[in-house]
Amino acid sequence: MTDETAATLSSRADYADAVDRAVRAAAAYYGDGATPLGDDEYDALLRAVTAYEDAHPDQVLPDSPTGKVAGGAVVGDIPHSVPMLSLDNVFSAEELTEWAAGLERRLGRPVTAWCVEPKLDGMAVAARYRAGRLHQVLTRGDGLAGEDISHAADAILGLPAALTAPLDVELRGEVLLTHAQFEHANRLRSEHGATPFAHPRSGAAGTLRAKDRPYRVELTFFAYGAIGLDDDLGHSALLERLAALGANTAATTPAHPQRCATQEDAQRRIEEIAALRTALPFGIDGVVVKADSAADQREAGSGSRAPRWAVARKLAAEHKVTRLLDVEWNVGRTGIIAPRAVLDPVDIDGVIVTYATLHNPADITRRDLRIGDQVFVYRAGDVIPRVEAPLADQRTGDETPIAFPEACPRCGDAIDTTEQRWRCTRGRNCQAVASVIYAAGRDQLDIEGLGRTRAVQLVEAGLVGDIADLFTLTREQLLALERMGGTSTDNLLAAIETARSRPLNRVFCALGVRGTGRTMSRRIAAHFGSMAAVRAADAETLAGVDGIGAEKARVIVAELAELAPLLDKLAAQDVGTAVTEPRTPPAAADTAAGDDADGDAGGDAGGDVGGNAGRRPGAPLAGEAVVVTGGMSGRLAALSRNEMNELVERAGGKASSSVSARTTLLVAGEKAGSKRTKAETLGITILTPDEFAERVAEYLP
Ligand code: IVH
Repeated sequence: MTDETAATLSSRADYADAVDRAVRAAAAYYGDGATPLGDDEYDALLRAVTAYEDAHPDQVLPDSPTGKVAGGAVVGDIPHSVPMLSLDNVFSAEELTEWAAGLERRLGRPVTAWCVEPKLDGMAVAARYRAGRLHQVLTRGDGLAGEDISHAADAILGLPAALTAPLDVELRGEVLLTHAQFEHANRLRSEHGATPFAHPRSGAAGTLRAKDRPYRVELTFFAYGAIGLDDDLGHSALLERLAALGANTAATTPAHPQRCATQEDAQRRIEEIAALRTALPFGIDGVVVKADSAADQREAGSGSRAPRWAVARKLAAEHKVTRLLDVEWNVGRTGIIAPRAVLDPVDIDGVIVTYATLHNPADITRRDLRIGDQVFVYRAGDVIPRVEAPLADQRTGDETPIAFPEACPRCGDAIDTTEQRWRCTRGRNCQAVASVIYAAGRDQLDIEGLGRTRAVQLVEAGLVGDIADLFTLTREQLLALERMGGTSTDNLLAAIETARSRPLNRVFCALGVRGTGRTMSRRIAAHFGSMAAVRAADAETLAGVDGIGAEKARVIVAELAELAPLLDKLAAQDVGTAVTEPRTPPAAADTAAGDDADGDAGGDAGGDVGGNAGRRPGAPLAGEAVVVTGGMSGRLAALSRNEMNELVERAGGKASSSVSARTTLLVAGEKAGSKRTKAETLGITILTPDEFAERVAEYLP
């Protein structure tokens, strides 16, 4: 839900529906339930309802939340001495200026001074003291009467049992869970088999109401008002008085309240507090601007819902609700296997969030997360977005359990699950094993005899830490390994020797640079011609390669910088230098869209699997755009799809993975499916594997 909602409430039925949703959301927002709406959405919904009611005053429904404290969602049975009001909201600097001008018009003079302070994201409470001793604590309820939550008083830090003076006074303020208290509360709840709180505010609400819990959750109080102190105290003086009485106030935080002489100063302090937001140890959802002088406040007065002398400048919500689509498991450098949430993309304060951290498997279990769940996602400043908790009451029954990996997703070995953070039993060696297996693969260095078992053996024996070490292995070292006879040793050494002279594109591919796979490696190799030239390229030059955008170019440059020691070692071993890569003149690179059927790990964009079509006049495939599909047979039977694409390029053609109007030739093997049908429709020449083999005979491996 966004501001657009305002425009969509065009009928009475839409309005009634919006009122219904807002009432339910308010009950959750001010109660201890989980809300299906984030704060931004709730605010937008209320604005839409208000806009409709302004335009159709005769249609206002009695249960509409507008104009009511807490949206009319909560009632209590203990009357407040003086109504506990809410605050009106503004959402921009301009709206704030307008609001201030309105207040000054009402007063008929400028406001004496402003006080700017954080809007604490918790629950409003009233704490009644008799002769300086805490006597009763109440929730706000509907603003006129609240619930007695005195039982929770002991757990509220900053709310003293006794004031420093024996006064009859009522302190008002906010009770919240700091970030640390929220984390602690959720750990405790999981240990006791309770559902974790989805959000610190609902955690505060739930904790304040709960009785007889077998565990103790601490909360924190911040005072911002009082009934029964000197009526002539201005707001900033009142805050000082509250602190002197022993109550906690925001003065103890970096976002301390500040008296500001002018609107400009107030705007500046708002910006400062907003900038401090991520560094604060608790959540704020806005900044409150108050007329500081008691006389200004008295003259401005209050409406039924909110005072006219104060307003909340709301900040964008840091929590949003979205759907958990999947969980990926990534293995870090040290072998830690970390889950990552894949989310239905959601805008949090202007940033589209698609991935969020999930901490560890125990955390998933603790939060009872399921694929398909609506989840609260938190993102603040530069903090990595994280999934907080599912909205369990929103489940439809279609949610599915999250599958935990049974083997290391990178090297396939066992997982050590004894700690909270799972780790590949191979630890740091996991990376080495996985990179050796990948590099020795058929489409990279194609080292026969170097499979998983051998790679594990070499790494575990300390002989190989990276792929360059393969090229310094000696006969003696290999013979000393278990199950390594003379013949296997000689075969392996011969295979490694052959690999030393693989073309650049395969050596580059063997590095496993993030964002590049077989296709991109071929393009990069064709573009630069040598590893030295690739290494010398900056992001701008790399972005000249077909299919590499600015972002990917930056990633590749960073990865290559990180790989510098390995690249130096490979160069010292003459790996990838023996064969000159046929170069593509940079200016001639084509672009074409299509699928990525050759399955690059790096997820290359576009379907062209080669970039040098028709650049070798006289070659049998000069000018041809070739797609290979179906199973190859005859002389081509042994070739992988990657090798077929390499063959096409060697023979002067351009290999592509999808059939389009630009395709000129389809090599259709056994069980060729939709690509064949499409080629037939487009009238494209179709060759059998044998016919094709004949045409490129002199280029066959
Ligand atoms: S002043 C009559 N000051 O925000 C004055 N409220 O959305 C009314 N809140 O009901 C409140 N921080 O629960 C005030 N510094 C602050 C606040 C604050 C948080 C809460 C309070 C209020 C709600 C309105």
